[in-house]
Amino acid sequence: MANATKTDQPTQGQSIHLLKRCLKYFRPYKGQILLSMLAMGVVSLSTAGSAWLVKPALDEIFINKDEQALLYVPLLFFVLTLVKGAGRYVQNYFMQYSGLRVLEKLRSELYDKIIFLPLQFYEESQVGMLMSRIINDVTMIRNSLPSIVMMVRQLLTMLGLVGVVFYQNPRLAVWAVLVLPAALYPLVWFGRKLRKYGRRNQSKLADISVVLQEVFSGIRVVKAFATERHEARRFDDENERLARLYLKQASVSELSSPVMELIGAVGIGLVIWFGGHEVIAGETTAGTFFSFVAALAMMYDPVKSLNSYNMDVQRALAGAERVFEILDAPELVVEQGGDTPFDEPFRELRFEGVTFTYGSKTAPALDNVSLTVRAGERVAIVGPSGAGKSTFVNLIPRFYEPQQGAIVLNGRPVADYTLDTLRRNVSMVSQDTFLFNLPVRDNITYGLPGPIDEDTVRAAATSAYADEFIRELPEGYDTVLGERGVKLSGGQKQRLTIARAIMKDAPLLILDEATSALDSEAERIVQKALDNLMENRTSIVIAHRLSTILSADRILVMEQGRIVDAGRHEELLGRCTLYARLYAMQFATDAATDVAASVNPDGAEQGAAIPPAGATA
Ligand SMILES: Nc1ncnc2c1ncn2[C@@H]1O[C@H](COP(=O)(O)OP(=O)(O)OP(=O)(O)O)[C@@H](O)[C@H]1O
Ligand SMILES: [Mg+2]
Repeated sequence: MANATKTDQPTQGQSIHLLKRCLKYFRPYKGQILLSMLAMGVVSLSTAGSAWLVKPALDEIFINKDEQALLYVPLLFFVLTLVKGAGRYVQNYFMQYSGLRVLEKLRSELYDKIIFLPLQFYEESQVGMLMSRIINDVTMIRNSLPSIVMMVRQLLTMLGLVGVVFYQNPRLAVWAVLVLPAALYPLVWFGRKLRKYGRRNQSKLADISVVLQEVFSGIRVVKAFATERHEARRFDDENERLARLYLKQASVSELSSPVMELIGAVGIGLVIWFGGHEVIAGETTAGTFFSFVAALAMMYDPVKSLNSYNMDVQRALAGAERVFEILDAPELVVEQGGDTPFDEPFRELRFEGVTFTYGSKTAPALDNVSLTVRAGERVAIVGPSGAGKSTFVNLIPRFYEPQQGAIVLNGRPVADYTLDTLRRNVSMVSQDTFLFNLPVRDNITYGLPGPIDEDTVRAAATSAYADEFIRELPEGYDTVLGERGVKLSGGQKQRLTIARAIMKDAPLLILDEATSALDSEAERIVQKALDNLMENRTSIVIAHRLSTILSADRILVMEQGRIVDAGRHEELLGRCTLYARLYAMQFATDAATDVAASVNPDGAEQGAAIPPAGATA
């Protein structure tokens, strides 16, 4: 075993560590591996047995003409073959078994780590790359132990043959074995090269996943801009680069065996040269010499396999590097919550001088924000694009951590609460709806523990104005939605997410209102659904609708990460120029259409003029 790993030592002291780490995953399958190795022994013995049978077959049957031998030799041969076959089956099955279990374990471990990483990690990584690590890189590690076991086996065979060779002619053996160190050097060299290419291949494969993931999820944009050809070319480029890398890898690994063979030939050549001299000089017989050469020739096979298993181990190490990189990376810390469960009624949420800057930015997205929201309040946030509204609400369930200040919930910093109880008490409904590949019912009850009875689900759907269209779906509440399921309209999707929020029944509601995704009819229904949702809950709404700001207890005006003013609609219109401007741009058209509909048919012509406060009253 020591020898097997020693071959990498010159490459990196680290690789032994890496290898040990891989092997650790095989530890739970000791039993199976032992069984497999035992079976390996059986295979070797029965192979040797079959070879040994040649002697009685020749001597007893063909020379002594023994009839009994005529019976037992073929029978024995059959039995030996049977044993060998069974042994090989057991050997390979259990090796595969341990390899596949390790693969399964590593995959889960990687996924479990990644899924608990904070949102920021996902924003900075490419989804395709992550998928590639979970799908491709781990498969390499699977071969690490089986290849090492095979290497050990080949090494032992080789040692055995070296023994035979030395036993037969120590002087000649020295010449033959002299080339072994020379054979070891290319082994290491090829290993190192292969490891490098393995690493590059894996990262190129990840690049390809990134392109695929991006294009498939952005296919609407690709179609709309008719850039299929361009994207196809981009893919072809990546694909070709991968092919070229694979070819380089292939050329190295295919070069390795002829080189090893050549070195073997040098050994054999040396032996023939010196052995021939001895035979000619009468120091040894031709028979001894040839059996020596035969043993030497038999060494060729294990050396060659040793080489190919070494290549497998190198590939495994290349995969391991990439997998453990993620498992170990100190900066990739899984989200940590506190220990206190949040299980009391919501009373108050306070921002105390909160400053937050995104990792990739220098200017803060939130700058010294302080605010108190009390139970039952309805707070609206308005502000120009990029003011920090979404950032503000995303800090509440701790999607991001503020660098300064504190967010205090019921008198305790949110960081004290366990993440799941904290998040279960906050509902977020945003304009980008996401539905899982699950039946309608499961989409509505997503994340809730235990089975939920039919009536409760239906009641939630009814309040969200979703029940009616759900019933009209092909299989009602059992209709599968999402990627591979039935598609819904924008408004229907939104009502489903509202039903989900009603089901979740969190006391604190955060809404990121849709701007113009819906037509006014659909919007009216969604608005009614939202009204039902907001009833009896504390809500913070990023407002894009006039009705929201008019019904809010308080409106916060945000600009460049700061709350520049707060108050009710009429107060703000009078004193805050930013608010007045925003109102004119964002909400006045609402007001105008409402006025047009109810009071003044010419109202729609008002354009950017600021209508009087409460025009819709
Ligand atoms: N994930 C992110 N990484 C880096 N910067 C971000 C990220 N999200 C937002 N920002 C930046 O932070 C600032 C505030 O963004 P935020 O999304 O909070 O604005 P907003 O008020 O919600 O705007 P909008 O009305 O357009 O939704 C902007 O300058 C934006 O570029
Ligand atoms: Mg936003």
